[in-house]
Parts: sequence; structure tokens; C-alpha cells
Amino acid sequence: MTNTALVTGASNGIGLELARIHAEKGGDLVLVARSQDKLEALATELRRKHKVNVTVMAEDLSQPDSAERIFAQTERLNLQIDTLINNAGFGGHGKFHQRKLAADQAMMQVNMVTLANLTHLYLQGMVQRNRGQILNISSTASFMPGPLQAVYYATKSFVTSFSQAIAEELRDTEVSVTALCPGAVATGFVEAGDLHGLDVFDNAKSPRSVAECGYKAMEKSELVAFNETGLKIMLTWITPLLPRKTLLKMSYKLMDKTA
Ligand SMILES: NC(=O)c1ccc[n+]([C@@H]2O[C@H](COP(=O)([O-])OP(=O)(O)OC[C@H]3O[C@@H](n4cnc5c(N)ncnc54)[C@H](OP(=O)(O)O)[C@@H]3O)[C@@H](O)[C@H]2O)c1
Repeated sequence: MTNTALVTGASNGIGLELARIHAEKGGDLVLVARSQDKLEALATELRRKHKVNVTVMAEDLSQPDSAERIFAQTERLNLQIDTLINNAGFGGHGKFHQRKLAADQAMMQVNMVTLANLTHLYLQGMVQRNRGQILNISSTASFMPGPLQAVYYATKSFVTSFSQAIAEELRDTEVSVTALCPGAVATGFVEAGDLHGLDVFDNAKSPRSVAECGYKAMEKSELVAFNETGLKIMLTWITPLLPRKTLLKMSYKLMDKTA
């Protein structure tokens, strides 16, 4: 049976590795991001190495109608999406009132709104066929407020919450929803979000290892997956017990470049 995956943010980092893993398993792909040249290069590599069908869709997911455009294209090409990997996303450093509002609006659109739109569009068919899997790339940031990355952390809280809620709505179906919550990963994320110089990225994990963890979790229909056990214990068992103000101070420190 074919298994076509649509991967957003496939031009770099975790998304690129998720696309590679899917192709290694013989799955066809629809690759989405803005960088057409990078997507074409990956498509050529995957077609050559794994003899899979790969379609490239260069789209800016911060555009409000981008999800509808992608869906219309896959419909026109008669591509049935069995696996939806909502991976595209970015952060941004600084105090909220000093940041450009347009940058945070674009972040909310990419990280939350387009993710929800794509999910809504492709979920209908998955439920009708009673088959499908959705992997949403969230973050350990989703478990606490994030001063100096306020909007980013909040968008990831949305992703983890939304993923779990719809997973429960789909409990009696063969459609699964998984939220992957990575810690720091060595990707273009640091550059894109102006996060240079932060200690949290000193021990960043490789995008391949994080993608492998996420892909496995999706295959096992896990609800919320972590690639670092220490962070999982910390965020699910310890931080919820901390006084709010202590947690906020700790969280601020993590993102403070002057500390
Ligand atoms: N790296 C980390 O430490 C870390 C930790 C936890 C969670 N995450 C999450 O992991 C996911 C993947 O990020 P990454 O670490 O792999 O970063 P990355 O290397 O910067 O990759 C981000 C991907 O998203 C795409 N993207 C960004 N803005 C887009 C837009 N407006 N329209 C379409 N595509 C867009 C980029 O492609 P183009 O630039 O070609 O458009 C790129 O393919 C994100 O959701 C991020 O929040 C990352």
C-alpha cells in the first residue's frame, strides 16, 4: 500500500531528515517549504536513492491561504496524503514589545494557524479512509511560558495541546496524532530565530536523531514524544510543581543572552 507523506519545512533541519527517513522506508513524498532549490535538490536525491515519487511545492506558510493552495495542488495531482508531518516553524528572540509585530504574526501563522489548517484539510480524508498519521513538531518550549521568546513558546503550547486534543477525538479511528517535543537541535533554527550565544544550544542534538525519534513515535501512535529522557522527566514531573515565578525566572535565564 502506498504511503505518501506531506512534510512541511522539508528544506532543512528536522524536516529534511524526516523526509529522508520516509523515503528510506519506500514512501512517496510531497515536500513543502519556501526554498524551491533546496527542495528540488532533496527530491533529486530521494528519487535517485530510493526510487520514490517526490513532488515539490514551494510555498510560504505564513501566507493565510497557503494551506488551501497546497491542498488544492495535491487534489489536482490526485495525491492521497496518508502521513502529514507539520514540521515547519521558527522562533525569534527579544522582548515582545520590542520585536516587530509582523515577525511574530508570521510566526503564529506558520507555527499554529497553517498547521491547524493543513490538519483540518487532510484529516477529513484520513478519517473517511480510517487510515492516517499526523506528526506535529512541537517543542519542550510548549511546557512553560518563555520570556524573551514569548510568542514562540506560546505557539508550541498550542501545538502540544491541539495535537493531544484531536488525538483523543480520533481515539476510535485508525488515525493517529503525535506531538514531538525536542529540546535543542543543531539546525537552521538558531540562525532563523536570532538565538546565537545561548547556552541551551551547546549540547544540541543532531536533526537526524531527533527525526528518527519522532518518526518512530508516530509509527507507534505515541501521543507526546520526547527525544531526551532527562527533559521529559523535568518537564512532566518537576516543573509543574515549581512556583510560577521561580519557573518564569528560570525560563528567562535560559533565553537571556546577557546572563
Ligand atoms: N532546532 C531546535 O532547537 C528545535 C527545538 C524544538 C523544536 N523545534 C521545531 O522543529 C521544527 C523544525 O525546525 P528546525 O529546527 O529543523 O529548523 P530549520 O533548520 O530552521 O528548519 C525550518 C524549516 O521550516 C521552514 N520554514 C520556515 N518558515 C517557513 C515559511 N514561512 N514557509 C514555509 N516553510 C518555512 C524552513 O524552510 P524555508 O526557509 O526554505 O522556507 C525549513 O525547512 C520547527 O517547528 C521548530 O520550532 C526546533
